Order: sequence, then structure tokens, then C-alpha cells
Amino acid sequence: MSVNAAPNGLKQMTSTCRILELNEANLEHCKQLLQAGQVVGVPTETVYGLAGNALCESSVRKIFEVKGRPLIDPLIVHFASIRAAEAHVVFNDAARELAAKFWPGPLTIVLPKKDSISDLVTAGLTSVAIRIPGHPIFRSLLDRLDFPLAAPSANPFGYVSPTRPEHVAKTLGEFVPAVLDGGPCMHGVESTIVDLRDAASPKILRPGPISAEALGISSENSIESTDERAQAAPGMMTQHYSPNTMVKLFEHSGQPTSISRHDAVLYNTKPATQVSEKTYWLSESGDTREIAHNLFSMIQKLDGLNYHCLHIERVTESGIGIAVNDRLSRAAARRSN
Ligand code: TXA
Ligand code: MG
Repeated sequence: MSVNAAPNGLKQMTSTCRILELNEANLEHCKQLLQAGQVVGVPTETVYGLAGNALCESSVRKIFEVKGRPLIDPLIVHFASIRAAEAHVVFNDAARELAAKFWPGPLTIVLPKKDSISDLVTAGLTSVAIRIPGHPIFRSLLDRLDFPLAAPSANPFGYVSPTRPEHVAKTLGEFVPAVLDGGPCMHGVESTIVDLRDAASPKILRPGPISAEALGISSENSIESTDERAQAAPGMMTQHYSPNTMVKLFEHSGQPTSISRHDAVLYNTKPATQVSEKTYWLSESGDTREIAHNLFSMIQKLDGLNYHCLHIERVTESGIGIAVNDRLSRAAARRSN
């Protein structure tokens, strides 16, 4: 896809989607689109979101339609402040504590909803997932609006999440008028989701940039089994985050087996030997945060290169590495199930 520079800081895509650099006029333009019920691509510190007015039924419906997302998969609602969230959600002390520590940031908290949040947003659940994002562009958009923004990751349902504005324009550009350009997302994997409906028994529904240890939650309270997860967080399917190319995983520090000449291999770091043009790596130093940051972008790049299979190395199972391995397992599940 060609991206041509155009005047007034606007890059015109071959689709109808415009990638807008950060300036006052472009923020105002996105605010107006959202007020008119449109959806807009926005950068967050995790992945790009597809934002729409969370209090407007037709905007929410548009989000589901554009993503091709089933209505059983509830959306995260993003607020400018805890005060703004309190109008729509019932907080408890445990939630306040984590919010004070981690918001704005990559933490999503599931709490009982008030009537102002529609069943469409929550897929009929009595709870709602909420987050105060840390990205300055998303925050300045929220500050300008008098409604919260529902925003799932801005990818077609089931595909790899976008970590650059070009990913949104390429996969959803036909249906999204604009994406605000925040460059590559810092974390590169989606927020950690914690269910705090029962303050005495917090549960991690999705691992993310904030680890169980940092949250002070026992990792035994992470929901692992597919059935349990599907009940606790509908839409969190085993098969997700999948590129079109087949994915096979191999152990951390190990080697892939049975590679064909049409396959690519993706390591954590540059391997000491056997580097060919079909060998890729995610980090110079092996730092897990850097691996997470580059992961989805690299997978989307490799997905466009006509390989038959991507052999991807798992990462060390700690910190954000738990989230990386979770996304990798689900990317690979599609073909092995
Ligand atoms: O980092 C993120 O969380 C990004 C950015 C844009 O904020 N958003 C994101 O949204 O990843 P999405 O829709 O791709 O994933 C959110 C997941 C859903 O799949 C759903 O399972 C879960 O959150 N979820 C939403 N509401 C829920 C609820 N009330 N109870 C349990 N799980 C819920
Ligand atoms: Mg998603």
C-alpha cells in the first residue's frame, strides 16, 4: 500500500482512511467525527483502538460491524478520569486501589455496570470492562468529549492487533475515515484485564503489560482454561490474534523442527549461526519488553511475505512474557485445532 505525503500534515492512503498527524485541527476533526457517530482509529499505549461513542447505540453497532465482531464479545469502555467512570460503573475499594496505582495505563478492570451502559456494549453482561488509557493522544481526545469511548483493538475480528496506524488503515481503512498517528505503540500487547466484581477474589482474565505480581494477585487466579475463560470473558477465544499464514511455536532457546524452504523463523534475538534471509528476530538484546513491542508488527510484516509457515520462538514465561506467550499460543491454535 502506498502512503503519499500530502499538505496540512495529512497522509492520504489508497483506501479512504486518512492517517492524521497530531495537531489541533486533526484532533478537532476526530472529535467531530466521533460526535457525529463515526468510528476513529486511536493510538493507545498497548495497541491501536477503534473508538466510538460508548453511549450511542449506533456508534457501538458500527464498531462491531467494522470489525466483523460477534455481538457476544463485549467492548472495553475508556474514560478520561475515575470521576467520569463513576457515573457509569460501581467501584469498590479494591478497584480504587488498583486504579490509583495503575491508571492512566494498560490495566482494564471489570466492574458492575450502571444502566447508562447499554447491553450492546457489554454483550448482555451486568459488568463492564473499563480503562483510563495513558496515551497522550487518546487522553486529549477523551478530554475534549463529554462521553466515554468504547474501543476494541482496531483489527478485523480474530486477526493480529494493530500496533501502527498503517495496520489500521490497511485492514479496516475502507470503513474507518481517520486514524490518529501516534507512531508505534509502546507495549505492543493489549491491556491486562482484571475481574474485580468480587473485590475479595480478583481474577486475571487476560495477561498483559502489568503482571500478576505487580497487581498483587496470585497467578493462580489467572483464568487458564478455555471454557472458564469463555464464560468469564466472552469473546476471548482460543483462536485469536492469528495471521493468515500458519504459525508453529518452538520452545524458548530451542530450535524449530521440520522447516520447509517456504517457511520463515522468528527468534527472540539474533541467532549465533544459520542466519538466512528467512531468519528474523524481535530484539537485539533479548529484552522481553522489546520483544512484545515488536511482536505484532513483525507478524503482520511476515504475513505479507507469502511464507507457508512462521516458526516462532516462545519467550521467557515471566512479566510481559506471559502475555506474549498467551498471544502466540492463540495465534498458533488456529491451525493446530
Ligand atoms: O489494550 C486494550 O485493552 C485494547 C485498547 C484499544 O484499549 N483493547 C482491547 O479490546 O484489546 P478488545 O475488544 O480487543 O479486547 C477486550 C476483551 C474482549 O475480548 C472481552 O473478552 C473482554 O475484553 N471484556 C470486555 N468486557 C468484558 C466484561 N464485562 N467481562 C469480561 N470480559 C470483558
Ligand atoms: Mg482485540
